[in-house]
This record gives sequence, C-alpha cells and structure tokens, in this order.
Amino acid sequence: MARFNVHDILKMKGDERIVMVTAYDATFAKLLDRSGADMLLVGDSLGMVIQGHDSTLPVAMEHMIYHTAAVVRGSERALVVGDLPFMSYQISVEDALRNGGWLMADGGCQAVKLEGGVRSAAAIKALVHAGVPVVGHVGLTPQSVNAMGGFKVQGKNEAAAKAIMEDALAVQDAGAFCVVLEAIPAELAAKVTAALDIPTVGIGAGVHCDGQVLVSYDYLGLNEGFQPRFLKRYANLGSAVREATMCYADEVRTGAFPDDEHSF
Ligand code: KIV
Repeated sequence: MARFNVHDILKMKGDERIVMVTAYDATFAKLLDRSGADMLLVGDSLGMVIQGHDSTLPVAMEHMIYHTAAVVRGSERALVVGDLPFMSYQISVEDALRNGGWLMADGGCQAVKLEGGVRSAAAIKALVHAGVPVVGHVGLTPQSVNAMGGFKVQGKNEAAAKAIMEDALAVQDAGAFCVVLEAIPAELAAKVTAALDIPTVGIGAGVHCDGQVLVSYDYLGLNEGFQPRFLKRYANLGSAVREATMCYADEVRTGAFPDDEHSF
C-alpha cells in the first residue's frame, strides 16, 4: 500500500477519525505502522521519553533528523511528521525554511510540525509555499512551558479560548493541512474543529477532534510514573520489560541460559 499523503489526511475530516502516534525509532515505527496508525509523529517529546530531559527544549535539529530518518526507514504506510525543535523556526522565516527543508531532505519525512498559531503563521506560510506540508500545534505548546508556567490546560477563560480559536484559524489560513490541539477543554476543541476545514488532532482535547494523538511510550505503559488525566494506558510494557529482564538475569546467574538449544 502507498504511504498516506496530505490529501488522504485532509479527506478524512468528517469521514474517518485520524490515528496519530509518536515514534522515535525503526523498530517501534514498524510495529505502529503495521498496527494501522495513519500518521507517525517523530515528536520532540523524544527529549523527555528518549533523552530523559524534563522538557523538550534541549532537542536539536540533528536529533530530530536522526530519529526521523529511523522512523521513515521502519514504516511503509503512515505519513511521517517530523517535529521542528525549539528555536529552529522562531528566530526568522529563513531559519524555518532552512530547518524545515533540512528535516524533509535528510530525515525523509512527508511533513513537519511546529508550535504556535498567529506567532508562527509567517513561518508556516513560507514552508507551505516552498512545498513543505505543515502540521500546526496550538493550545498547550510544550516549547513554551516556561512562559506558560508549566504543562497546564489552556483556553479555560473566554479571552484565552478566543486566542486559541484565532491561533487555529491562523494556522489554517497560513496553509497547514492539519493542526494538533493540546490540553484544551473538550468544548473549545469541538468549536475549533467545527470552524476549521482542516482536520484537528487532539491530545487532552476531548473526543470531538477529527483525530487523536498520544505519545506511544505513555499509552504503552513504558513511561511508568506519568499518569495525567488525559492519558489512557493500553498496555503495561514497563512491567513486561522488567519481568523479562529479571527472568533473563536470573537464568544468566544460575547458568540456565544459554542452554543447549541456544548454543552452537
Ligand atoms: O512532541 C510530541 O510528541 C507532540 C505530541 C504530544 C503532539 O508534540
């Protein structure tokens, strides 16, 4: 089957819900791709779940390219979106073009994602004009965690909700083909979804979005201490990894492994 493209994703609005999950390496990309994910996001969340930082801010372009290329190699069907990291597009439109182009050319993804609505519209417009499909990201934008005073639900009062609506419209007007809505009330996400012609993909934004995205390490139970309200655990791979490793360690220590079957 051919890889999903931006037109396939656009056509899904109002028809079929979009399934997006994060991936960071080829092995997981292959598993998630074969499970029917429509879009694989190489999120800068890798700064937290892969690199062990407490925010996404230390992630560099080189890291994004390395992980994006691995995810592209591991997948066949899903549209791969590479995240533009902190300060790779905020300084100037030229930076956005240079780094967006670099991620597409060397990472091999089919689209890039960047955070911000009105403030990022010029960068989105230039990228789209240059042939780079863009996914927007509004609401809670983790690269602004320090300005926001933490990872908090956004758009809770009338003025903040209005600003998020304006951000989503600005992303659409600038030419993005999809927008992530993060950590906003479900009612606001429903209004934004109805106001836009492009699909919305929610995380902590309720059921009325056109699709959903979760960090794979979170819903698979690999990120064990992390249990925010929006997260549903679909597996407990953390304990599976611990149990298997304890069993292996025990067999190494007792000499039960390798047995004849696993020796030459
Ligand atoms: O970096 C990421 O994984 C993201 C998703 C949480 C949407 O931006």
